[in-house]
Amino acid sequence: MLHSIIKKGSELSPEELEVMNRERKKVFDSQIEWNEITKEHFFNDLFFVIKNSENTIVSFGRLIDITVFVEQTPYMILGIGSIVSVTWKKGYGKELMSSMKKYILEKGKTAVGFCGEQKSEFYRKCGFEIISQGVKNFVYVDKKGKRNFDEGDVVYLSGKDGLVEKILNNPHIVIEHEVPHW
Ligand SMILES: CC(C)(COP(=O)(O)OP(=O)(O)OC[C@H]1O[C@@H](n2cnc3c(N)ncnc32)[C@H](O)[C@@H]1OP(=O)(O)O)[C@@H](O)C(=O)NCCC(=O)NCCS
Repeated sequence: MLHSIIKKGSELSPEELEVMNRERKKVFDSQIEWNEITKEHFFNDLFFVIKNSENTIVSFGRLIDITVFVEQTPYMILGIGSIVSVTWKKGYGKELMSSMKKYILEKGKTAVGFCGEQKSEFYRKCGFEIISQGVKNFVYVDKKGKRNFDEGDVVYLSGKDGLVEKILNNPHIVIEHEVPHW
């Protein structure tokens, strides 16, 4: 039996963090380990954790509160990130995304994540929507004001704020944010 847990980063146990750090290193080659010293990177985020009957983590992911700007207008969205299944193709990812989707729909907020196009089908199968090559519209503005662009697909659920409609209606729209990796 799988069960779903939702908790803040500050509530994750050392054992949970160990599994997440190990898996993030393995699949994303993550350079920042989540621990007491790096807590500003994850303490305030909301974590979705799927565990099996032995209480072992089988998949996890997080939602981050992010403000993006379209021509100076702020939109408070949820950033979908760190989506990982410890063992693949056993339905653990789908279970995770189902728990996350339920939460996002309850909040009514727009949720956005970035993925390589080879992962889009997974998100589609989990009931999320895709903007093919949509990442190019998002600009990460770093602390020095440098503008950084990337490539890939956008995975999203549309909220009440109308942001997704704006993106779909304008292929050249520029969406600025100050979050390097989410
Ligand atoms: C992507 C990932 C989370 C998928 O998790 P998973 O537990 O294997 O997914 P599931 O078994 O729940 O699969 C759900 C459905 O998506 C499909 N699917 C899973 N991975 C897929 C992929 N890479 N491409 C296409 N379809 C995929 C499954 O076949 C399944 O289809 P079905 O419902 O028709 O049976 C997992 O492969 C992973 O952790 N990858 C490394 C980290 C990563 O890339 N995360 C995403 C970053 S954007």
